[in-house]
Amino acid sequence: MEKDLQAIVDEATQKLNSVTDRPGWDSVKATILGPNGSLTQLGKGIGKLAKEDRPVFGQKLNRTKKEIEAIFKSSLSLIEEKEDLEILGPEIDPTLPPPSNFTGGTHPLTNTRRKIVSIFRKIGFTVAEASETETEWFCFDALNTPEDHPARDEQDTLFFPPNSNWSNIKQKNKESFVLRTHTSSVQIRTLLREKPPLRIIAPGRCFRRDTVDATHSANFHQTEGLYVDQNVTIKDLKGVLDFFLKELFGNKVETRLRPSFFPFTEPSFEVDLRAPNIGKLSDQWIEIMGCGMVDPKVLQLVDLNPDEWSGFAFGMGIERIAMILHGIDDIRHFYNNDFRFLSQFSHSS
Ligand code: PHE
Repeated sequence: MEKDLQAIVDEATQKLNSVTDRPGWDSVKATILGPNGSLTQLGKGIGKLAKEDRPVFGQKLNRTKKEIEAIFKSSLSLIEEKEDLEILGPEIDPTLPPPSNFTGGTHPLTNTRRKIVSIFRKIGFTVAEASETETEWFCFDALNTPEDHPARDEQDTLFFPPNSNWSNIKQKNKESFVLRTHTSSVQIRTLLREKPPLRIIAPGRCFRRDTVDATHSANFHQTEGLYVDQNVTIKDLKGVLDFFLKELFGNKVETRLRPSFFPFTEPSFEVDLRAPNIGKLSDQWIEIMGCGMVDPKVLQLVDLNPDEWSGFAFGMGIERIAMILHGIDDIRHFYNNDFRFLSQFSHSS
């Protein structure tokens, strides 16, 4: 039986030599130390020995068991070391140069949004945000845009299916959910939450059912602005926008307000600008944003007395501003993720 003990030690050593992973190690262990393993079985034979031989054999059995356990233990630590190395990957040579020194950068639309926001911050505007999913009431009704207005047509607006449920977006009545078509809905959410005087700038993503081409995208970005206080006039609106456009395009920029129409402002204007330093677009009047004095009906809807409060609002496309600033002639460049395009902007802030 002593011979058998040595044979089991040899068997364990030999089998473990070809084991390379944990499952293999487990199954070898079972063949030796498991309930039906060779060592366990041999141990059971102790009862067949003469009484006086049993203690000696018992001691040898225990010693062999310890020896075998030690062999298993060191085999397991080799396997664990191998597993660690696999996780760590190949050895690192710290003297090698890095594969590339490119550090990434912000998207041109992010840069433009930050630039716009930082200019308005200088004159006391704070950033307001609301969700991209809106309800018809916030997107249209509250902005004095009646049900038969073309913007509310399914051709123009992306509606959610009738029984959609957004637990985190408050509905006014049981109106449908839409993807917001403009950031003007943030005006209403803010006016319902905060009391004037207030000055906010609300940048964010908007959606329309536009067919994509060089100047249209179903997904785009706007920045809304809203100023509500006492005795606010068109002069204040013009002053703020002139300051903003001069900061953005330089002191030589000229601006003009052209009469227009928006349901939520009265009077309403388009803002045009002319600048000498904007590439192909230099020295010609170009349309840059919509604006106007907040319509008294909008103020009434949010429980503000139009005799006491007045304000102005404006909204511009961030893509449009970025295209003018950088001489980009196709809106699709912003969304194609072409590295050759994006890397040109990674260093501007
Ligand atoms: N929401 C308008 C648009 O998307 C822009 C606008 C905002 C006009 C605020 C006036 C006042 O075209």
